[in-house]
Amino acid sequence: MSKPRITVLGSYNTDLTTFTPRMPQPGETILGSGFKTGPGGKGSNQAVAAARVGAWVSFVGRIGQDMFGEMALRTWKEAGVDTACVRQSSEQATGVATILVDSHGENMIVVASGANFAVSPADVEAAADAIANSKVVLTQLETPLPAVRRLLELGRAQGVLTILNPAPGQPLDRDLLALCDIITPNQTEAEIITGVPSTDAESAARALREHGARTVVMTLGGEGVLLYDDQGPRRFAAFKVDRVVDTTGAGDAFNGALAVALAEGRSMPDAIRFASATGAISVTRPGATESMPTRAEVDALLASAG
Ligand code: RIB
Repeated sequence: MSKPRITVLGSYNTDLTTFTPRMPQPGETILGSGFKTGPGGKGSNQAVAAARVGAWVSFVGRIGQDMFGEMALRTWKEAGVDTACVRQSSEQATGVATILVDSHGENMIVVASGANFAVSPADVEAAADAIANSKVVLTQLETPLPAVRRLLELGRAQGVLTILNPAPGQPLDRDLLALCDIITPNQTEAEIITGVPSTDAESAARALREHGARTVVMTLGGEGVLLYDDQGPRRFAAFKVDRVVDTTGAGDAFNGALAVALAEGRSMPDAIRFASATGAISVTRPGATESMPTRAEVDALLASAG
């Protein structure tokens, strides 16, 4: 099968990750168990995940002219991500994420956006050819909303499948949601957008559809995935893993792989299974971008799960 092309608009951050036995309380100092510097950012993680599992990926974003920006360029080169639509700014620093990961693999993240917050609708318009040649466009909420909206508009105008991963969560207008063929929140993000308590995933998914999104693919962590489309709600179990090392980037692995599977023309249930397997492998490894599996690894997990 020939590789499909997708366009990802989003953030790049360098992740400064400290591993810790437990999360500290406000005002408390504790001793961590390790430290790692690596590439991250939801947009870039999703772009690299998609490239590793089998797509030609064009990335739209901004980085600074600094050491962390060089790390971004090396990362994309190694993954084969096309950077023709990436701008390097002398005025803003490359984004940075400060991350704590506890002994259960759970994380807390603070992002200093830097150059990511200079991404503009004009940057997206400069990627019009890449978008028109894509099967899927994919974006998140770590870059400004006007740019996100422009990507979804251009994708919709070209008949390209539009996917919004609304992370980090923020309230969204109905007209933006109406540009989403697929929206992929986790439960917290769904609650922020709809106001429906996260404990009631099906009602929140229904509300997202009423707000304009066509199909909702809600990630429920270890509880799997809730799909809500014209056929109503359906649930998909999570893949079991022996040990969760680091959940950072698991949602990004899922989103990148979902975009590729749909771009390959797979059915939504097949695409969710493929994406879930990709996310499951990523949590068994430390780091965000570095935890993204290859296509061979994902296919092997799917084959072994039967
Ligand atoms: O989704 C994980 C990512 O969120 C991290 O890589 C960090 O950079 C933040 O953007």
